[in-house]
Amino acid sequence: MPYAAITSVGHFLPEDRLTNADLEKMVDTSDEWIRTRTGIRERRILRDPNKATSYMATEAARECLQKRGMDPEDVELIIVATVTPDMFFPATACLVQANLGARNAWGFDLSAACSGFLFALSTAARFIESGKHERVLVIGADKMSTITDYTDRKNCILFGDAAAAVLLEPDPECGVIDSVEHCDGNNWELLCMLGGGSLNPPTHETVDRKMHYLHQEGRSVFKLAVEGMAQVAVEIMERNNLTADDVRYLVPHQANLRIIDATARRMGLSPDKVMVNIDRYGNTTAATIPLCLYDWERQLRRGDNLILAAFGGGFTWGAIYLKW
Ligand code: ACO
Repeated sequence: MPYAAITSVGHFLPEDRLTNADLEKMVDTSDEWIRTRTGIRERRILRDPNKATSYMATEAARECLQKRGMDPEDVELIIVATVTPDMFFPATACLVQANLGARNAWGFDLSAACSGFLFALSTAARFIESGKHERVLVIGADKMSTITDYTDRKNCILFGDAAAAVLLEPDPECGVIDSVEHCDGNNWELLCMLGGGSLNPPTHETVDRKMHYLHQEGRSVFKLAVEGMAQVAVEIMERNNLTADDVRYLVPHQANLRIIDATARRMGLSPDKVMVNIDRYGNTTAATIPLCLYDWERQLRRGDNLILAAFGGGFTWGAIYLKW
């Protein structure tokens, strides 16, 4: 059985920066509070109202394919992880497929909030391992600024816009070695967007009650996230008999630097083995993990052991053992 190996990574970051100093002018907050509580200094915002998640996803995918020298027509499957699709339907994956000219690909969106890329990578790997496909694009993309209430100081400091994409191809030795996935919908109200769906279809009232914005009970989510990320990262190490020395990098979802640090400590990893770019981009939801892979790509060598770990709305959480 072949493994699903990442053979190329692409990304898209909007040019506009929203710094902590900018946020100080918008809500009652301070650079010091944001940095010490979250580790974030600035985020990128896609200000053009005519450009949505599919635009960022397409740009990231385009760069990914160009780096590999692959024709879009050779792509067989496109999975887009997002909670900010351009619209409910058609799926963002269909728009990306058309934009790329990937006329031989099928595709779909996957909704798992901040665990979206991890779940999508795990899903995509099964298509490679089974021999069904040989060239699969997995994209994490979110335009979080469209569901962020910029009068809510607890949440507006956290999120940014971005996309990143990976190409999966079969490999006899390297790729996704193992994965664990969890979800528990019992506490879904702690992190959700209530409006717009079939439960609360859009009305003037849903707009007035700000139900089309992300809602998060930060403190409760924080406790669950610290526990969930650490538990699943340790679980995948133990399942594969990996010690801290065996792990080259932890590639964590970037929600809060304190959650990342706590996870690394539980795994016994020193800070130099942890990918962190939350300071520059904030929480870009489905894009954080592939964006880290993009930023660290030059430092990775074939065969390096990576542990990917995420926790997000749902709740959803999981980890992947990836041999680079
Ligand atoms: N500036 C200044 N003060 C603030 C701000 C702000 N931006 N926001 C909140 N405060 C205040 C609060 O009002 C509170 O004041 P009080 O004690 O007088 O009531 C105090 O700071 C502490 O507030 P907490 O919410 O307890 O702050 P906390 O340390 O928990 O940090 C944060 C908040 C950053 C949101 C944190 O809880 C967190 O990171 N949560 C987890 C996020 C996460 O992992 N989400 C999952 C992934 S996201 C996804 O799936 C889409």
